[in-house]
Amino acid sequence: CGIIAHIGRGDATETLLSGLENLEYRGYDSAGIAVQNGSGVKVHKTSGEVDDLKSTLDARPSGNIGIGHTRWSTHGPPTDENAHPHTDTAGDVAVVHNGVIDNYDELRAELREKGHEFESDTDTEVIPHLIDEYRRETDDTELAVRKAVDTLEGSYAIAAIVDGEERVYAARKGSPLVLGLADEEWFLASDVPAFLDHTDEVIYLEDGDLVVLEPDDYRITDLAGSPVDRSVDTVDWDPEDAGKGEYDHYMEKEIHSQPTALSNTIEGRIEDGTVAFDDLEAGAFADVDSVQFVACGTSYHAAMYGGQLLRTAGIPAEVLRASEYDTAAGPVDENTLVVAVTQSGETADTLDAVRTAAGRGARTLAVTNVVGSTAAREADDAIYIRAGPEVGVAATKTYSSQAVTLALLTQRLADDVPDATPADDREAMLNALADLPRHVETVLETSRARALAREFMDSESYFFIGNGFGHSVALEGALKFKEITYEHAEGFASGQLKHGPLALVTSASPIFAVYTGGDDEKTKTNAIEAQSRGAPIVAVGPDDHPLVDVADAHLWVPETHPVWAGLLANVQLQLLSYYAAKLLDRPIDKPRNLAKSVTVE
Ligand code: G6P
Repeated sequence: CGIIAHIGRGDATETLLSGLENLEYRGYDSAGIAVQNGSGVKVHKTSGEVDDLKSTLDARPSGNIGIGHTRWSTHGPPTDENAHPHTDTAGDVAVVHNGVIDNYDELRAELREKGHEFESDTDTEVIPHLIDEYRRETDDTELAVRKAVDTLEGSYAIAAIVDGEERVYAARKGSPLVLGLADEEWFLASDVPAFLDHTDEVIYLEDGDLVVLEPDDYRITDLAGSPVDRSVDTVDWDPEDAGKGEYDHYMEKEIHSQPTALSNTIEGRIEDGTVAFDDLEAGAFADVDSVQFVACGTSYHAAMYGGQLLRTAGIPAEVLRASEYDTAAGPVDENTLVVAVTQSGETADTLDAVRTAAGRGARTLAVTNVVGSTAAREADDAIYIRAGPEVGVAATKTYSSQAVTLALLTQRLADDVPDATPADDREAMLNALADLPRHVETVLETSRARALAREFMDSESYFFIGNGFGHSVALEGALKFKEITYEHAEGFASGQLKHGPLALVTSASPIFAVYTGGDDEKTKTNAIEAQSRGAPIVAVGPDDHPLVDVADAHLWVPETHPVWAGLLANVQLQLLSYYAAKLLDRPIDKPRNLAKSVTVE
């Protein structure tokens, strides 16, 4: 879910609605706003997307103080009643909430006994009722909010407004909340893109913080009411990054922004053939003797890339699905580096794995796109991938920037870890990395993916195979394809095709064979075996792809170092998925049932 709040001289409604649009990647099955306009708190909410909410607002409610929410259901289906904001019985207190309140059942029972009436199935609804209850007891709203928050168990980012008060109250524990500071107006949101049009000055709030915003002042305290000091950061994201610009979809824009994103990822990190990260000087990893990666979805595929590179450098590395960490991970100690690869830094499964690893004594590192995210804060260290905000639910540019960041991390570890074996051809590899943004540009300019998407549009299944680095690219290609086209797509290690999946191969199942370099007989022989069963073959890779002469089509990438070839192949597969989904008229940026950031386990 995503929350936003605004207080200032101007009208809140437009700000809230445009902010919610930029937060829809966090969920989009219901949306709502509440504004204060001097004659009571007005709530407007509906199941559906922010666009649906807009169409229900015949006249724009006016007021300079407001809160908003875009929901992804966890407690109760996406109905109008369950949409946020929620209010107390009299409708004086309105609350938006992201997170899960664990003790809501007992709180609701207690409140019902005191005469409170509930309208929704949500855990959130107890919060405005609690605030209302404590207001009556204390006659002091700020104290009432503190007491209410103190009563909650679970995770939350909350924003509340109260009838007749020129204030927004907010609190966080376990769910992200950022304060935006502009000229005579303040914002609160789950993530920076919600208000990036208005300001780049932010305060990343911490767990236990309670915020009171007033038109000309803001205060941050702890739950006991003592002031806390939080530093102001400047976000270096361009406001342009938060909009769709000239593109039809965020995904299209994000695919096309990869040359810039990758340049930012690399910038200033390579000096005289070695890799440097801010705050992690040479030798920072000297005590590390093995690495475990934990990640989900697309980030898991980027982590596979990192795992393979580390093993090549002689550093033992496991790559684990974060949700399986508990049972699947090998033993750790203080010399194990557990690397959480997470674009958002908020994925519950990944955070849980990091906490488990830390509890078992491991050292932790977050590789993430979001400054101030929970993963970045909780891990011992953080490295930012610097891809800029990603809004499309299907991750694209963050995969590329993650894979490059992990490749750079490998170089750093190979230098620091005593028994590691830095690559002989490092110089060539790093030189080729400098060319990667330009090579991605070339792929974007020359790609035939749109034509191929059309050619294969009536297929039954789409298979993606690859070996080594190509394996993770094949898995990512299939994930992207199924996520946004809703067609059946699967990725396999090339050599595995004959061990079962071949039974599914027909003339209506194109095989996209990814080649990243070197001797790759497996991809060649397995693809040809499928072709002899009638499947069309598409060679994805540079001109020396072993299938170029026999393939039915070629998605070409420029020649580069084998470590980067897979990333170029992946750009071709991103375009293929995008155009196929477009032909099928799918809601590309918001595929059904999926959210960008899954904050529940
Ligand atoms: C969700 C998204 C995926 C994403 C995964 C991990 O499942 O739909 O696109 O790859 O979460 O997200 P993270 O923010 O941890 O990289």
